[in-house]
Amino acid sequence: MDLAIHLKSNSPIPLYQQLTEKIRTAILEGRLQPKQKLPSSRSLAKSLMISRSTVIQCYEQLASEGYLETRSGSGTYVCHQIPDEWLNAQPIEPVTNQIAQDLTLSQFGKNLISVGSLEVSEPGFEISFRYGNPANGHFPLQLWRKFLNRYCDSPTALLNYAADAAGHFPLRVAIANYLRRSRAVCCNPKQVIIVNGSQQALNLIARLTLNPGDWLAMEDPGYLGARKCFSSQSANLQPIPINSEGLNIDLLTQCNRNFKLVYVTPSHQFPTGVTLTLRQRIALLQWAQTTGTLIIEDDYDSEFRYGEQPIPALQGMDKSESVIYVGTFSKTMFPSLRIGYLVVPDSWISLVRNAKWLCDRVTPLLEQYALTDWIIEGHFERHIRRMRKLYNLRRQVLIRALEKYFGDRVTILGANAGIHVMVRIETGLCDRVILQKAAAVGVGLISAREYYLKPQDQGEFIFGYAQLTEIKIEQGICKLSQILEISN
Ligand SMILES: Cc1ncc(COP(=O)(O)O)c(C=O)c1O
Repeated sequence: MDLAIHLKSNSPIPLYQQLTEKIRTAILEGRLQPKQKLPSSRSLAKSLMISRSTVIQCYEQLASEGYLETRSGSGTYVCHQIPDEWLNAQPIEPVTNQIAQDLTLSQFGKNLISVGSLEVSEPGFEISFRYGNPANGHFPLQLWRKFLNRYCDSPTALLNYAADAAGHFPLRVAIANYLRRSRAVCCNPKQVIIVNGSQQALNLIARLTLNPGDWLAMEDPGYLGARKCFSSQSANLQPIPINSEGLNIDLLTQCNRNFKLVYVTPSHQFPTGVTLTLRQRIALLQWAQTTGTLIIEDDYDSEFRYGEQPIPALQGMDKSESVIYVGTFSKTMFPSLRIGYLVVPDSWISLVRNAKWLCDRVTPLLEQYALTDWIIEGHFERHIRRMRKLYNLRRQVLIRALEKYFGDRVTILGANAGIHVMVRIETGLCDRVILQKAAAVGVGLISAREYYLKPQDQGEFIFGYAQLTEIKIEQGICKLSQILEISN
């Protein structure tokens, strides 16, 4: 078989990466067909005049991505089911190491290369438990369009430059009212700064507070969007393990480091789902006050708790301006809206407003106006109530299916909340193989491995359930148990 592969031995891109890219492209462009057998690692290595371990590394990488499968005693094949959406798709260009050599890059630019790809290519699995999206199909788009149209009819003011970088004031009022009422956040509207999602909030805080070499404490496992943002500022990340009470505050305080920041998701720790207990909240706030450390509270999905009292935000208990609160409309509306907010202490308001202005001046106004009315007229909380019921149902179906098909080999972790659940499954297989086998039958999964600062196989997986119908959830779990050969 002639794969027409030419590798550049003088390129800064490692040979195995070049080879992986070539084979992936050949699959995506249809030059390698589903079920087609690949040359053995030995013969491909010989024909390309490279080492066999380079080919093995490449095959393993593509197998973990779901492009190849290895049949013992038979060889390596292109997976029989490559999702249609992947075919002919333009592969995401890896951030090229060539640029890394370029001396014109700032430290930040260089950091972004080691941070790795930030874009998520969402493969089109038939049943995807991959976490992230809420049930976008249930969002009342027709109604939302009417709210947008209200302001399309009289747009002049909206088209001007002259807008407050901190956001449309009535929206800040609406958010402050909502947060005081439903999250016990202690704030006035001026403290609310509108940004393009939590990601921008984290980015602005990181840039405003972190110097290269500063120490920051991160939940471990923890949120990649936050971790990558802090790493890009050359911060040193100290992983703090999670226990049944949430962030392990004893370990945090024993670190004896001069932390600038600590990043936490107290309502529903991402990804384990544990809620930070009251005892630990008090300990964290006292420690932050004594050490002068700033706490970033990321309250990304607290609206969704099922059958349990909502947990008030940490920010509302803070008496020493130690907490910056971050919220988002990505889960309660839809992610591409790109509206989120920060609640900052009074002394921070003008600083954060300036940082936001320098970044992109202002979050698009049309959506801010529409969202203000949406909240004031009750649609925001109505949609949350409807989705809470739906997610609760889907969560129960998922948990019942996991218990039915996996029996006592599965442990459900975390609180009864959010739009994902982390579970531990005992299979005796490594996570990569499980993902590969699942992908081969069209089931998308995420291993919790990547969320640990020191990746480790724990048999822990994240199941996002918001987007899947109850039938698909049951089918997906049934398929998983079959391929993992678990009969209960
Ligand atoms: C822990 C955490 N924070 C924040 C977000 C939301 O990010 P954004 O508001 O940028 O969409 C997510 C989304 O998945 C998340 O998991």
